[in-house]
Amino acid sequence: MTSPTIDFANALAGVVPGTGIDPGRLRGDLAARFRDAHAAVAARRRSGEMGFFELPADHHLAERTAAAAATVARRCESLVVIGIGGSALGTAALRDALLPPSWNELDAASRGDRPRLHLMDNPDPDSVAALLGRLDPAGTCFNVVSKSGSTAETMAHFLIAWEWVESALGPGGLRDRFVVTTSPGRGGLRGLARDHGLCTLDVPHAVGGRFSVLSPAGLFPAAATGIDIDSVLAGAAEMATRCSTPELPGNPAGILATLLHVADTEMDCHVQVFMPYADRLRGLAYWIQQLWAESLGKSVDRAGRLVESGPTPLPSFGASDQHSLLQLLMEGPRDKIVVFLGRDAPERDVDIPARFAEEPALAYLGGHTLFDLLDAERRATSEALRREGRPSLAVMTERLDAHAVGSLLMLFQIAAVYSGELYDVNPMDQPGVELGKKLTFGLMGRDGYARPEVPPSDSRWRV
Ligand code: PA5
Repeated sequence: MTSPTIDFANALAGVVPGTGIDPGRLRGDLAARFRDAHAAVAARRRSGEMGFFELPADHHLAERTAAAAATVARRCESLVVIGIGGSALGTAALRDALLPPSWNELDAASRGDRPRLHLMDNPDPDSVAALLGRLDPAGTCFNVVSKSGSTAETMAHFLIAWEWVESALGPGGLRDRFVVTTSPGRGGLRGLARDHGLCTLDVPHAVGGRFSVLSPAGLFPAAATGIDIDSVLAGAAEMATRCSTPELPGNPAGILATLLHVADTEMDCHVQVFMPYADRLRGLAYWIQQLWAESLGKSVDRAGRLVESGPTPLPSFGASDQHSLLQLLMEGPRDKIVVFLGRDAPERDVDIPARFAEEPALAYLGGHTLFDLLDAERRATSEALRREGRPSLAVMTERLDAHAVGSLLMLFQIAAVYSGELYDVNPMDQPGVELGKKLTFGLMGRDGYARPEVPPSDSRWRV
């Protein structure tokens, strides 16, 4: 069983030339500030504001999710998740990290007779038409995921999928092909699902969209494709336990939140680059981006004062982006901190053959593996940044198994709510997203939403 560790030496003064955080502060003012943040989060958790903490122990919800997933897995060859933002990014993170690469290209036997997994998130007609064009309605199930049950993109995709199934199989084909994951209670999507006898799963009220990966929103598609959700939840529970201490040096999420907050507010490192050195962590990097951006990008603090705060999270991928973004990270504005994400050992490796010994550009590679190379690239990039006086952290796991991925998901969620306290903003709301949703409703003519005045494009300012 593996749980991540955070190596933060390269964010400390004395290690990074010319900059960095005084390590003494981790037992001084930063420790005191963190103790307050920890107590505030504990109080909010007790008052029921932060339901994601409770998900690993909600065995009833996990069992119900697994049972529904097993039924759907037996029934269909393709599972299409319809959702967006927090209702899709967790699924993508789990898929990338824990399903074999190119899952959808494997044959049924190699997939253990589990369904292929598709995501319908962006309402781009090219993508949606192409996806439906290659699926067989008889072998396809849809999981409609929307906490609010009203997001325009998701509702549009639901309507399209509903009609697609109905026109191919008739009304009798609908019931077994839709699973709805949404808030408990009646209304909107939930009511419609009940009226049509669809299987429904709950995103508990206290669990926010971007904090829902460990609810059925993320776990249903994961379980349907055979991911070991019990281990994901066990890893998350273990991380929550590790983060129960109010003592900063022993709390991984506390260290992550505190150092990144200091980097943003004291070191002018406003851009936080999340840089996995594992293709399997791509989805996680995009999931972190949303978690950070929506939780911390706020115009007002908790007292309603204008703050316009929040770091800019930027996913970047090693080693590929060493050949694009790294030049900027090394020599551009000193407004960035890099958070490397990596693992100590790969699940599989590929030997590099020892050939062409006479050619120095190739000879040194023989006898190594691709993981040796990838890991050397990560360590070299970290050291190059350090020598340039550019801070970084490394979040490392021993391996990338379900337990470790669950731990990583919980680590970043807890760090996000600690960060909310450090910035003194509400990490659970997203008023900026809500406004965009309402204006879209108005532009699309939804009842009860006025058509917004959008100034017409001015031809003087066009070329
Ligand atoms: O984190 C959030 O709250 C948002 O990103 C939502 O997840 C996203 O807007 C989708 O909302 P819903 O699940 O209500 O359809």
